[in-house]
This record gives sequence, structure tokens and C-alpha cells, in this order.
Amino acid sequence: MSASIHTLTPELGAEIRGIDLAAPLDDASRDLIYRAFLEHHLVVIRSQAGLSTARVLELSRVFGRDLEPHTFQEFHHPETPLIIVLSNRTEAGGKPKGLADAGTFWHSDVSYQANPAKATLLYAVEVPEDGGDTLFCNLTAAYEALPAAMKARLDGLTAVHDYLHSKRDILVEGKVAAPPPGVHPVVRTHAETGRKAIYINPAYTTHIEGLESAESDALMAEIFDHCLAERFRMTYRWKPGDVVVWDNAATMHSATTKHLDPAKHRTLWRTIISGDTPVR
Ligand code: SIN
Repeated sequence: MSASIHTLTPELGAEIRGIDLAAPLDDASRDLIYRAFLEHHLVVIRSQAGLSTARVLELSRVFGRDLEPHTFQEFHHPETPLIIVLSNRTEAGGKPKGLADAGTFWHSDVSYQANPAKATLLYAVEVPEDGGDTLFCNLTAAYEALPAAMKARLDGLTAVHDYLHSKRDILVEGKVAAPPPGVHPVVRTHAETGRKAIYINPAYTTHIEGLESAESDALMAEIFDHCLAERFRMTYRWKPGDVVVWDNAATMHSATTKHLDPAKHRTLWRTIISGDTPVR
């Protein structure tokens, strides 16, 4: 069976069918997956239960050569620091087996870094029948739908992204040092497609530079309202063995794990594919 691309919603995402990730990927499959990723901003490959860490790393490298270990070393997969375990399971004694909530807030991964993540991959090891969905929003479509006057207003603006803006407990507990804030264009041009996307997010963007605080807050609130309209959004309901990869230069996302019943178990592996400095 040859691989094929099937759109998930008119605005966002594509499912790739006819690929078995347990076997090494040939060049044609790699090209097809990457093409779908660039065009649809998010790709899904279902029914891949039982993948090894090596296979997950190989698939991650379809999207970029370099992968990044996560800051929270305590949740690295025992076989490799390039996979972080997201899980609400605990060991006897209550020690968490993974990061229970990777971000129940709208964000683009590590946007506070000078070189934020290009892409993120999640692999569903175990997921409940319901709950624990991941929400996505298409920031390219949101930008393209802006009125010309708003595009002109945003053109050339830059914004500050700070990890501490989302007040993460793990930092408050002093387990890891806060990374320094980053500054990026409010509208970024995709390095490969040349398409523009909004590049601010509620979790990490503290303010737009050069504006009074009230004006910056009002402008960001207006943009976030626009981006989070139903037509730009997609809810992903996980099944065991699903692989989802998204483009952080074109989307933002939110976990919902903060609201997940602790009796329902959810364990995913995550990799981060390194990116370049965002450009206007
Ligand atoms: C993430 O924000 O990277 C994880 C999303 C999720 O756990 O649903």
C-alpha cells in the first residue's frame, strides 16, 4: 500500500496513511511526510503502537537534523535524553513518572528561546478513552485572514517571550533555572514556505516592544481573540499509537491535561526538533 495524504480539517492538519513506522522509512515516504507537514502544518500517523525510541527518533529527524533534550532532566526517557516522557502516572511513593502537564495554555514550543523549536512530535503510548485532548490553532491562516490595516500595524513589530510569564511550578520550586527571555518578530516568515504567521502566544509573550503597556496588552488580546476563533482551531483526540508532529512556526497549541481525571492514564513521548531564529 503506498502512502497518501488526507486533510483533517479544511484549515489544519493532514493524516498520512499507508506508512508503517516500525520499518525504516524510504526516501519517498520521508518526502511525502515532510511535504504534508509544510503544507498542512501538522501531520498525524495513526496506529503505530509499540514503536521503539530509535524509531521515534528516526521519524523526528524527518523534520530536522537536530533534536533538543528538554530542560527537565528528571523526565528524560531512560534510553535517551532526546525524548521527554509526558505522563500522569506515578511510582509507588508518589514520584511522577513523567511531566503531567506540558502546558495547559496556548503556546508555541520554547518561543522564549533565541532559536525556538521548529517542530514537536508526540507519540501516544497510552491515552484514555476520553479526555487529554490537545488543541491546535493555525497561525498562518489567522495571519492571512487579518484585515490589511492590521497586517500593516503588526509589520515590523517585535515582542518579548519569557518562560516565567506562564509561572511554571517547576521553576517556582527552583528545580531548574529560568531561561532568559527572547525577542521575535510579531509576524514571522516561514523559512521554507515563505508564508507569514502570527508569532505571539498567550503563555510566553509578555509584551510588544515600543508600545505602552496598556496598548500592548490590548493589541495582544485582540490578536489572540482573532487567532482562537473556531475556524482556525482543531481538537486532537488521541488514540494509542498515534503520532502527531506540528510546525511551531505556523501553529500554537494547548494541552488539556490540567483538567484530566488523575484516574485516567495518559503517557506520551515527546521530541523537539531544533529551529532557526525567526525572521520577519
Ligand atoms: C505539549 O504542549 O507539548 C504537550 C501537549 C499535550 O500533552 O497535549
